[in-house]
Amino acid sequence: MPEFGLLGRSLKHSFSQTYFTQKFHNLDLADHHYELFELATMHELPGLLAAHPNLRGLNVTIPYKEQVWPFLNEVASSAARVGAVNVVEFRADGRLVGHNTDYVGFRESLRHFLGPRPPAGLRALVLGSGGASKAVEVALRDLGIGYWVVSRNPLGHGLTYDDLTPRLVQEHALIINTTPLGTFPDVQECPPLPYAALTPQHYLHDLIYNPTETEFLKRGAAAGAQVKNGFEMLCLQAEAAWQIWQGEVKW
Ligand SMILES: NC(=O)c1ccc[n+]([C@@H]2O[C@H](COP(=O)([O-])OP(=O)(O)OC[C@H]3O[C@@H](n4cnc5c(N)ncnc54)[C@H](OP(=O)(O)O)[C@@H]3O)[C@@H](O)[C@H]2O)c1
Repeated sequence: MPEFGLLGRSLKHSFSQTYFTQKFHNLDLADHHYELFELATMHELPGLLAAHPNLRGLNVTIPYKEQVWPFLNEVASSAARVGAVNVVEFRADGRLVGHNTDYVGFRESLRHFLGPRPPAGLRALVLGSGGASKAVEVALRDLGIGYWVVSRNPLGHGLTYDDLTPRLVQEHALIINTTPLGTFPDVQECPPLPYAALTPQHYLHDLIYNPTETEFLKRGAAAGAQVKNGFEMLCLQAEAAWQIWQGEVKW
């Protein structure tokens, strides 16, 4: 019976488990199972793999997206470019291959958001510099969109929130929130921006999907901007994982 699962430290609410359990049901795959694997440290991974010889695929979440690396036999270019692994493929020959599907999930969500004719000369601000921000950066580079990363403590080049003048916000029509600010239950929080500088020409993409409309998106919508939350990205990254586990994608 093929097993799949999510690897993390604290896994109370798992979109992935709900998504794949429903998918197995829809596809009549009654022998497929999706489990939650909470590990206190990555040293427990070899024991987990030995105890679950039928594992065919893992999703990986905080804090193990980088720590899983030494346990892999190979890393696909998606993960190498982002510097993080959120999907592990179990090949038939026993080799473990790391992938990153957050990147493709965001890239495709953004393409749908901007439509077939994105504004010429579009430039972006990426708020936050964590793991998801790295996936967003790679996607923006793929799409040829210039950007600045905005961080509380920028290393080397990059902007701080104090650099975000109204003029700078006007010059960057795409703003992507990769910080957790505004996530349930702290729904009143939002990144510190000069929101009054937003216009109907702006596109605000949040990676947060709960709540469906964050304070960041509410303020954008109030200014007439186009807004999108992280739900499509979430579904696209899960679907990309499924295709990898089915052997349908050669990376
Ligand atoms: N929709 C999806 O499919 C999807 C996929 C992945 C992640 N996400 C969401 O994206 C968000 C970030 O995930 P992640 O894995 O990148 O997390 P992370 O590694 O913890 O990074 C979040 C970054 O946000 C900034 N940040 C954190 N707390 C902040 C605060 N109080 N004020 C201002 N900035 C703060 C930090 O950047 P600086 O230190 O540079 O300021 C931090 O590196 C989460 O909400 C997650 O649920 C969604």
